Amino acid sequence: MKLSGFNLHGIVVIVFVMSSMSSTSAITKFNVLNFGANPMGRTDSTDGFLKAWDLACGSADSSFIYVPKGRFLVNSLAFKGQCKSPEIIIRIDGTIVAPLDYGVLGKSENWVSFEGVTGVSITGAGTFDAKGQSLWTCKASNSNSCPSGATTMRFTNSNNIKVHGITSLNSQMFHVAINRCQNVQIRGIKIIASGDSPNTDGIHVQLSTNVEIINSSIKTGDDCISIGPGTENLWIEQVTCGPGHGISIGSLAKDLEEEGVQNVTVKKTIFSDTQNGLRIKSWARPSSGFVQGVRFMDSVMRNVQNPIVIDQNYCPRNENCPGQVSGVKIKDILYKI
Ligand SMILES: *[C@@H]1O[C@H](CO)[C@@H](O)[C@H](O)[C@H]1NC(C)=O
Ligand SMILES: *[C@@H]1O[C@H](CO)[C@@H](O)[C@H](O)[C@H]1NC(C)=O
Repeated sequence: MKLSGFNLHGIVVIVFVMSSMSSTSAITKFNVLNFGANPMGRTDSTDGFLKAWDLACGSADSSFIYVPKGRFLVNSLAFKGQCKSPEIIIRIDGTIVAPLDYGVLGKSENWVSFEGVTGVSITGAGTFDAKGQSLWTCKASNSNSCPSGATTMRFTNSNNIKVHGITSLNSQMFHVAINRCQNVQIRGIKIIASGDSPNTDGIHVQLSTNVEIINSSIKTGDDCISIGPGTENLWIEQVTCGPGHGISIGSLAKDLEEEGVQNVTVKKTIFSDTQNGLRIKSWARPSSGFVQGVRFMDSVMRNVQNPIVIDQNYCPRNENCPGQVSGVKIKDILYKI
């Protein structure tokens, strides 16, 4: 089903969606405005979003949640399965805004999380604005009292997920995290945070199979894409990275028992003003982890400090370095210009 390039109003989208589905299936539409969400950003819209989700999730039909233009103030939001609905499309044309006080989201692990869902697509030209700057300032002041911060959008134990077109702005921590998922397609998204923002990884993938990240732009303060243990069949193509720390496999060997990373393709990526380009990093300690079958192809590097890095003695800031021999076996890595 194609939804990209669609900037029209809800009604047209429905016709389009229906035409691409079998004639027997119906689609039920839920506009968050009908459930008390406030498009002026004045009152908290969290409940309105949750009510729309509950009805969409419980619907026997495919369902469509619409977030129109406007600013929606939203607190920590967990969308949970298992859903009756075989397919849920969430179209966001507005801006979803986090509370200004970083302490409100900062103590949650996630801002918007999807857990145990199947067939969920998030599309549209909308933005998630996490307002992370004040938390970054707190962290930069070396105060121990800052919360670690929330990941803007996390998918856990979920299958057949699409994220198309949206923007993630100024995340407190990671922008997008994919954990224990299968069949995830991220396409045409924009990630924006300042080059000195801490731990604002663009997209983090771990314990997941068949993930595609295509035609996306990632400007952030930490890794553009970070690839953790248990990642298999990851395809990255036409991604623009920078500022930030580049694309990293790792850090690995956090644990003795760890799953490997295998079959990763990074193709036609442009790195501009990044600390690293293509990096593999592991802590210097025993581990069952491994990296194999990685193809780095046709990348462009502009003003990149370390274009290719394999570091098996990874220890940022030289604090608590394990100082042993890395157990992570690395093999079958291809760099092709
Ligand atoms: C790539 O993504 C941008 C939005 O970031 C979109 O406008 C463009 O059409 C996409 N191009 C392709 C080839 O998908
Ligand atoms: C490697 O992953 C790609 C998708 O990224 C998939 O098309 C291909 O079949 C995988 N290869 C193997 C040997 O599993």
